[in-house]
Amino acid sequence: MANIILKNLYKSFDDFVAVKGSDLVIENGEFFVLLGPSGCGKTTTLRMIAGLEIPTSGQILLDGDDVTFSRASKRDIAFVFQLFALYPHMNVWKNLAFPLKMQKMNAPDIKKRVMEVAKLLQIEHLIKAKVSGLAGGDRQRVALGRAIVRRPKAFLMDEPLGTLDAEFREQMSIELKKLHNRINATTVYVTHDQIEAMTMGDKVAVMNEGKILQFGTPNEIYSKPATKFVGSFIGAPSMNFIPFESEVHEGDTEVLVDGQKLQIPRQRDNSLSPKNFIGVRPENMKLNTEKGIRGTVYGTEYLGNRKICTIDTKAGQLKVRITKDQSVSINDPVQVSFPPEAAILFNGQSEKALMSDQITN
Ligand SMILES: Nc1ncnc2c1ncn2[C@@H]1O[C@H](COP(=O)(O)OP(=O)(O)OP(=O)(O)O)[C@@H](O)[C@H]1O
Ligand SMILES: [Mg+2]
Repeated sequence: MANIILKNLYKSFDDFVAVKGSDLVIENGEFFVLLGPSGCGKTTTLRMIAGLEIPTSGQILLDGDDVTFSRASKRDIAFVFQLFALYPHMNVWKNLAFPLKMQKMNAPDIKKRVMEVAKLLQIEHLIKAKVSGLAGGDRQRVALGRAIVRRPKAFLMDEPLGTLDAEFREQMSIELKKLHNRINATTVYVTHDQIEAMTMGDKVAVMNEGKILQFGTPNEIYSKPATKFVGSFIGAPSMNFIPFESEVHEGDTEVLVDGQKLQIPRQRDNSLSPKNFIGVRPENMKLNTEKGIRGTVYGTEYLGNRKICTIDTKAGQLKVRITKDQSVSINDPVQVSFPPEAAILFNGQSEKALMSDQITN
């Protein structure tokens, strides 16, 4: 078990800065997800935590000890690259015992440890079976077993389910999370899949272009995105962003969009940018005929028992979630409204969320 702290961590490759001043606190026992698009620096961050890459500057603390420059082998952290990496010609027992043999553990202890893990993963009955003959789910369990048998302080997982098809992927993500709940070992899990991040993570850190933009519980990240990028990367369809042409002053409670006054949470910031925008999630918007931003229906798509309606407005296209029974036709004139507390204001230049009575952190 371990907690992991990153302090102002940087990593450059020649002139290119891949990680730009990361600050993170990963608590003991947490399932912590690093989420971001391709190339944003997730693997580089993980490799620095593992000791496979030396930071250009900054600090990594493992249980309070500075391990920034200590060797990978001294950190007692397991880096799980690919859950499928097993020795197919060996049986389950040998696959599980292998990492312990490498550590030169004695035979009775190996036996004890392997049986414990087999029991935990409910694969005791398969212990003599060859890995090559196992069904996918059992094989994955053995792979997990091999990662946990050493009892490292923490697990680092870099898109471990990346190569699996969607159905199996979902099943394995549930299994991984259940296992985590049983052994409670600190886990840093990298993915670029926001749904995986939101369903699996106790905490999620959103990265883009080498920067950690925000970290918090899935709910915090979803309902109080700190930047436009976080609001648009998380949630499908993404948050709506509605521009308006005015500065924001402390105490403001409304903005003007296409001549309509829209209520917003009481602002605590003075935004010096002359162009700012509001962010509202599609499920917090409503279609009606009396008030709000005027527009016409562009189209609708079905999402199970809901529909997403796209509205053309002078403030751009907006997506509104409606019920499957709500009937709308293309070109219908409508107005789009939302409760003030659902709106988050963003600075037009920095794209950072402004402080309001809704956002206190
Ligand atoms: N050894 C290296 N030398 C030069 N550039 C590198 C090196 N390793 C990574 N990079 C660059 O650093 C950036 C971040 O890479 P990284 O692999 O950390 O991204 P990632 O978030 O894991 O992306 P992906 O989702 O595609 O795996 C990329 O632009 C990559 O090309
Ligand atoms: Mg990567």
